[in-house]
Amino acid sequence: IKKIGVMTSGGDAPGMNAAIRAVARACSYYNIECVGFYRGYQGMIEGDFVELTARSVKNIISKGGTILKSARSTEFRTKEGRAKAYEQVKKAKVDALILIGGDGTFNGGIVFGKEFGIPFIGIPGTIDNDIAGTTSTIGYDTALNTVVECIDKIRDTASSHNRLFFVEVMGRDAGFIALNAGVGAGAEEILLPEEDLGLDRLLESLKKSKSRGKSSSIVVVSEGDKTGKNVFELAEYVTKNLPEYEARVSVLGHMQRGGSPTCFDRVLASKLGVKAVESLLDGQSNAMVGFLNNKIVTTDIEEAIISSHDINRELLRISDILSV
Ligand code: F6P
Repeated sequence: IKKIGVMTSGGDAPGMNAAIRAVARACSYYNIECVGFYRGYQGMIEGDFVELTARSVKNIISKGGTILKSARSTEFRTKEGRAKAYEQVKKAKVDALILIGGDGTFNGGIVFGKEFGIPFIGIPGTIDNDIAGTTSTIGYDTALNTVVECIDKIRDTASSHNRLFFVEVMGRDAGFIALNAGVGAGAEEILLPEEDLGLDRLLESLKKSKSRGKSSSIVVVSEGDKTGKNVFELAEYVTKNLPEYEARVSVLGHMQRGGSPTCFDRVLASKLGVKAVESLLDGQSNAMVGFLNNKIVTTDIEEAIISSHDINRELLRISDILSV
């Protein structure tokens, strides 16, 4: 391998820049050339790339977003689009790829690898944490801390006005952000996509909170929760049934994807970036680098995309106990 191409694709996540830096610097360390494709697979199709050197990635470890920009390319989903991308990869003399993103990115890599035989390694970068083969994806820890900080602030105003707040958080169809940030911020209730506890239980729990003397409450609602109601309908339903509550809704949205990465995400991205380059040099392909049982490991990419969505039931139980 003489030249590696790296890109970020799908939803951006804090720490992606730290991963790009690690890849570029590991390449420099091993005397390999490195280029970065802009806007994920779309930049690959358009031959839009930049040479990355050890110096060109200076001062980006602390920056949110991705200097390579990101996109969800619809053209790459077509055979013609992928053929164009391969032509550009050949033209750029890139002989292996490092794909930073989530399951959509990895699915693209699998198809591309099968069609054109180009070796690739995935680095998990998404705030959702919905990838198997790693206990943490790059960006997840930062998003958790952002959400906790926001809920802490919401708690101040909720408590001043004796209000009930419904806070919607991201995660697509995974509840990792909702559950962990919910416990971290001391939420009274957490609604997850993985577990439908039912609306009656929610009403019962809020009724109990009132009778036990709670003056304000926070309900964290995962954007993919299974109640069948969106967060606004949920607030309306609850206040209709429990008129003693004055409810407000806060949708945290894309602020969860921004900001300077935490130290944990920077270190994780640094380790995974180096491991991705070394894995390619070791002749590995079709794999994802991840952090499991305190070790940096590689997992078959097909296994990595089977997101287990294995929700931590013990943490859910703890949340129930603590919201007494
Ligand atoms: O996958 C990251 C994520 O932020 C999800 O949590 C969310 O459902 C989705 O991306 C939003 O995507 P977009 O930025 O395209 O609206």
